[in-house]
Amino acid sequence: MEAVVADAWRVGVVGAGQMGAGIAEVCARSDADVLVYEPTRELVAGGRSRILRSLDRGVSSGKLTEREREQAALRLRFTTELDGFADRHVVCEAVVEDEAVKTEIFAVLDKTVSDPCAVLASNTSSIPIITLGMATQNPARVVGLHFFNPVPVLPLVELVSTLHTGADIVTRAESFANAVLGKQVIASADRSGFVVNAMLVPYLLSAIRLVENGFADIEDVDRGMVLGCAHPMGPLRLADMVGLDTVTAIADRMYAETKEALYAPTPLLLRMVEAGHLGKKSGRGFYQYA
Ligand code: CAA
Repeated sequence: MEAVVADAWRVGVVGAGQMGAGIAEVCARSDADVLVYEPTRELVAGGRSRILRSLDRGVSSGKLTEREREQAALRLRFTTELDGFADRHVVCEAVVEDEAVKTEIFAVLDKTVSDPCAVLASNTSSIPIITLGMATQNPARVVGLHFFNPVPVLPLVELVSTLHTGADIVTRAESFANAVLGKQVIASADRSGFVVNAMLVPYLLSAIRLVENGFADIEDVDRGMVLGCAHPMGPLRLADMVGLDTVTAIADRMYAETKEALYAPTPLLLRMVEAGHLGKKSGRGFYQYA
């Protein structure tokens, strides 16, 4: 089986929200040919401007030259049809953290992507990769490639293989993440939350419980971790950045799998999500955003 791609990698990214846009951007900043899917023209337009804004930020922060930004923008194409993914070497799915939506996408990708050695990767944080693999006829092609937000800035990718993932697919996925995208890869078993969220989610939930139980206010909880532990941002601001609906979805999955109380979403978190206070993306979470 071919494990090395001779020309530019042809990458498909499903979803151009916060994570999908970041993944598409880092792919385009390598010399990959990138096709990005969103189901409607409005969502395509939103995804495109999200990526272009971040490329601009790369230029203004001195990480990219104007020429690199132009070249990256030229490597990006957008589509509202998954049919265009037939010739992709790697597809990264980064849609909403919903098992039904993701399994349907994997079933379509399975029929659409023709290369038997293509990597079909999910950026899920908590849904078992085997569940997505079993939605396909060829689960050997399915892995987890879990990126971290902001994707252009954070160097880590978790590589998750299942009981069915082929060894050649793991090698290809690792070489894509490491040699092509320049990310550092850690391997994880197919356990809900993988490695990082197994630690991060209980931390975020502990911070929310401190506020909920009246032990400290929002600013002091965050200041505690920024000033006392040199974290770049506090846990409540980070939860807002990740999205409180996403934190809840991940915690729910981890709790369902482990039945360990440390993963249970707290009442305050659930109420905030029900109220539409989803964090930065909705303009309000633990903090207010302009
Ligand atoms: N392209 C390239 N570089 C960029 C960039 C872009 N679009 N945007 C920012 N940068 C660079 C900046 O140049 C800067 O680099 P230097 O440190 O070398 O100067 C660096 O990124 C930081 O950017 P800023 O100075 O503009 O912003 P900041 O200092 O306020 O940092 C932050 C912002 C990067 C978000 C930082 O606060 C941080 O890392 N926070 C923690 C994020 C985190 O923990 N993420 C994980 C979330 S969990 C997850 O994603 C997984 C999950 O499943 C939930």
